[in-house]
This record gives sequence, structure tokens and C-alpha cells, in this order.
Amino acid sequence: MCPTLRSSYVIDMISIVLILGSLGVRVAECRVARNSETTAFSALNCRKHSAVLTEFGGVGDGKTSNTKAFANAISKLSQFASDGGAQLVVPAGRWLTGPFNLTSHFTLFLNRDAVILASQDESEWPQLPVLPSYGRGRDAPGGRFSSLIFGTHLTDVVITGDNGTIDGQGSYWWVKFRQQQLNLTRPYLIEIMNSNQIQISNLTLVNSPSWFVHPIYSSDIIIQGLTILAPVDSPNTDGIDPDSCSNIRIEDTYIVSGDDCVAVKSGWDEYGIKVGIPTQHLIIRRLTCISPDSAMIALGSEMSGGIQDVRAEDITAINTQSAVRIKTAVGRGAYVKDIFVKGMNLNTMKYVFWMTGSYGSHPDPGFNPKALPSITGINYRDVVAKNVTYSARLDGISNDPFTGICISNVSIEVSEAKKKLQWNCTDVAGVTSNVIPEPCALLPEKNVKFDCPYPQDKLPIENVQLKTCNL
Ligand SMILES: *[C@@H]1O[C@H](CO)[C@@H](O)[C@H](O)[C@H]1NC(C)=O
Ligand SMILES: *[C@@H]1O[C@H](CO)[C@@H](O)[C@H](O)[C@H]1NC(C)=O
Ligand SMILES: *[C@@H]1O[C@H](CO)[C@@H](O)[C@H](O)[C@H]1NC(C)=O
Ligand SMILES: *[C@@H]1O[C@H](CO)[C@@H](O)[C@H](O)[C@H]1NC(C)=O
Ligand SMILES: *[C@@H]1O[C@H](CO)[C@@H](O)[C@H](O)[C@H]1NC(C)=O
Ligand SMILES: *[C@@H]1O[C@H](CO)[C@@H](O)[C@H](O)[C@H]1NC(C)=O
Ligand SMILES: *[C@@H]1O[C@H](CO)[C@@H](O)[C@H](O)[C@H]1NC(C)=O
Repeated sequence: MCPTLRSSYVIDMISIVLILGSLGVRVAECRVARNSETTAFSALNCRKHSAVLTEFGGVGDGKTSNTKAFANAISKLSQFASDGGAQLVVPAGRWLTGPFNLTSHFTLFLNRDAVILASQDESEWPQLPVLPSYGRGRDAPGGRFSSLIFGTHLTDVVITGDNGTIDGQGSYWWVKFRQQQLNLTRPYLIEIMNSNQIQISNLTLVNSPSWFVHPIYSSDIIIQGLTILAPVDSPNTDGIDPDSCSNIRIEDTYIVSGDDCVAVKSGWDEYGIKVGIPTQHLIIRRLTCISPDSAMIALGSEMSGGIQDVRAEDITAINTQSAVRIKTAVGRGAYVKDIFVKGMNLNTMKYVFWMTGSYGSHPDPGFNPKALPSITGINYRDVVAKNVTYSARLDGISNDPFTGICISNVSIEVSEAKKKLQWNCTDVAGVTSNVIPEPCALLPEKNVKFDCPYPQDKLPIENVQLKTCNL
């Protein structure tokens, strides 16, 4: 194996074996970089050490398993955690692999033509215990499969690239799920647990077996420049699920999926209440979503650790069921509060505004029927929507109304197939200003025009500057 060397030129390396004349001595087996190609990229931190997957026996033919190559590479590079960190470059090729675990002070970089292919051999997938804030798996009561790319108790991890691809090859799992042949919950594509300082950027993620990106019990997370693609009829292929996390920035991302493009969560009924970690201080901006049967941004339904201080701006949905949807139920407890949305551009929607207090879906019959969620301080402004079936369906909980709803500066063009009852409101309270078509009586229009609030300050995660690094 070559000594790990730091190079600013490494992209396509050619191994050269020099045979020294009559002595026949093999001197060097290492690499000469094609020095015309320097790739700069943005990251939380640059690394002192760099290696390429092929140095660890990786074969990019789409058939050979690279599970061991990834494990060996990351194990070796983890030794540099306290010496400036390390990056692992995945070069052009198709790299079949089972799950692998990340390490701290580490960057995984995928070249433009690199494709990581998830193994469809179940024996390659380690089993993990269920998440404490869920109490069971989403697909089956027992344990769950590891995500393809997994990390726990880490700090300073970057998963990025020059728009390289991670392909979950999810069809295998979707078929088994639909045929109810799974005893364990399907894998996610990327899951980061109990960690901080995480960046996931400039990649194309396709066909996850289930959710794509799942940060949980973590903080200080930047997700940007992702293209996330799954068939619109694939089961539970949520794009990004910040779950019991703080300080998150999701931006410049394009998602086509079979479930919610972004689903903000914090645990399920009595399990989530017990763990009690909210998702908070989240900003989502410049998101584009296509999801005909789901929401651009869902808050819940699992929100039993609470969801607060979520900001969304400049977001676009096309052919999507609803824009921002609050989903909750009796038994969830906790709260969804201080939600601010500004600037939505919507085209072809079933509902613009949707809140559901009767989502049901419990982990088991042990939920507490007295654990009522508090939904309050929900603010929407500056919305343009076209080709809409229903303007709003706002359905609170009787004896537990959703309050403090504010909606301003909204122009909704209803479709030819529009329904007569445009605003269907029960158990909600709030105000509106400058909204067309005319809102329901529970959200009266004020005589004096006003804008719903949107925070003036910046979240700390918005001030994090990325550094320019080289391969
Ligand atoms: C990753 O780490 C978890 C423990 O956190 C372990 O259960 C799992 O087997 C590891 N995965 C791999 C591929 O080694
Ligand atoms: C990345 O690749 C995807 C899939 O090919 C493409 O749709 C997207 O435009 C690319 N993004 C960039 C920034 O090149
Ligand atoms: C999964 O459950 C089925 C019964 O539903 C059982 O026949 C099968 O052996 C189980 N598979 C595993 C891998 O445990
Ligand atoms: C990464 O994506 C951002 C947009 O999210 C873009 O500004 C930047 O140029 C991209 N960087 C690389 C190395 O592709
Ligand atoms: C309007 O929405 C309907 C579905 O409600 C869809 O079939 C139609 O293509 C949309 N029209 C335009 C112009 O987007
Ligand atoms: C109303 O919303 C539109 C569309 O987002 C925006 O361009 C406009 O500036 C807003 N008007 C006010 C008074 O904020
Ligand atoms: C209005 O909403 C209620 C409760 O969400 C629902 O039961 C009812 O069918 C809706 N009415 C119409 C006309 O859509």
C-alpha cells in the first residue's frame, strides 16, 4: 500500500511501477497526479491526510463488494483524527458496498463520476437496535437495518463531492416492504446519530430503501446542494428528516420523492416524550420539491420531543400534495410552535395549508390519551399558489385547538376542479391579512393590513462559513 500522502492534485492517479534497470529493484509503486485537475470544494474543515478507495483494494466495477475496502479505509484514516483529520476520495467508478461507519474529523468525497451502490445482499446489513425515541421500528416492531452510511457519537464529519451519486438500489426493499416480508425496519441511506458538526453536500442521492438523510440526536448540521431522487410512488422515501436535532441549515436542494421532501420529527408518543429531545433552530431555504402524495415540509407526525423555531424561506413546490403540513395526534404530547414560513411559490397543489390533529399512527396501545400536543405560533406569509384544489384544510383537536395561526399576503388561484369549501377549518384560531380566496371565519381578516412575523435575527448555523479545501 502506498503511504498516505497529501496531494492537491489527486484525481486520476496512475500507479507506476518503476523497474530500475539491471538492479531490477522495484522502487516506487505510487502515484503521479495529473496536475491539470485541482478540485476545490467547500467544507467545515479541510483535512491534512488524503487517501483513495483503490488504495484499500476497492474495485469500481459495479459487481465486486467494496464493504471491506470502505471498512479498512475508514479504520485506517480514523487514526488521523487527532492529527489534522483525513479524507477518503471515491474515484470514478461504480462501487458496490454494504453499510459502513464513519469516523470523526473525516471527509468522504465522491468524484463527479463516482457512484456508490448499496448492496442488495441482506446479510451485508448489520442490525441496529430500535431508536429510543420511537420504541419500535417504523416497518416492523423489532430491530432495524443499519443505514448504508452510518455514524454515531462523531464530531466534524463531511460527506460531499463533485455531485457524485449514492444509489440505495431501493427497489429490492420496496418490493419486500410491499409484500410485508420484512421483520426489520428498512435501512435509511445516511443516518448520523449523537453527533455534531455535520455537513452533507453536493451529492446526488437516489432510490433510498426508505428515508434518505436522517440526522438524529445531533446538532450543528449543514445540508446543501443535494439532488434527491426517488420514484413518486416509492414507499416512505422522505428526503431529509431532521429528528431531535438542533441548529440545522438545509439549502439549495432539489427533491423528488414518494413521501415528504423534508419531514421534521422528534420521536413517537410515549417513547418520544420520555426521550424529550426537540428539533429546533432549523432553517430551510431554496428548496424545490415534487411529491404528488406528500408535503414539501411536514412537521410530524412524530413530534413528541417538540418542534420549535423552524424557519423556511424561498421554497418551491410543484405537483405536491401540500406545502407545509402539520401532522399530529392525541398521545403525541409536546408541541409545534414558533414556525415561520416566508416566500412560497406553489404550482399544482391539493392543499396549500394543511394541519391534521387526527393523524393517529401510534407505536403501540401504550400511548397516553391525555398527552395532547400544543400547536401554536404558526406563521405563513408571501405565498403565491396556482392550480390549487383546496386552499386550506385546518383540522385541530377538539378541546385542544391549534392557536396563534397567522397567514398574510397570500394569493391562491384555484383550479378548474376546485372544491366549493375552500377553507375547511375546525378547532383552530388565528388571524389573516390580505389573503385570497377569503379565509374561514375562525381566521378572520383584520381591518388593518399587517405582515405575519418572520424573525429578523440569524440562527448561529447561518453564520457558519465553509472553508475552501482541495483534494
Ligand atoms: C457500525 O457501528 C454500530 C455500532 O454503533 C455497529 O452495530 C455496526 O455493526 C457497525 N457497522 C458496521 C458496518 O461495521
Ligand atoms: C447533479 O446531478 C443531478 C443528477 O444528474 C443533476 O440533476 C443536477 O443538476 C446536478 N447538479 C449540479 C450542481 O451539477
Ligand atoms: C421473518 O419472519 C418470517 C415470518 O413472518 C419468518 O418465516 C422468517 O424466518 C423471518 N426471517 C428472519 C430473517 O428472521
Ligand atoms: C456545491 O454546491 C453549492 C450550492 O449548494 C455551490 O455553490 C458550489 O459551487 C458547489 N461546490 C462544488 C465543489 O460543486
Ligand atoms: C392542474 O392540476 C391538475 C390536478 O389537480 C393537473 O392534472 C393539471 O395538469 C394541472 N394543470 C396545470 C396547468 O398545471
Ligand atoms: C407579497 O408576496 C409576494 C410574493 O411572495 C412578494 O413578492 C411581495 O413582496 C409581498 N408583498 C408584501 C407587501 O410583502
Ligand atoms: C372538512 O374537514 C372535516 C374534518 O377535517 C372533514 O371531515 C370534512 O369532510 C371536510 N369537508 C369538506 C367539504 O371537505
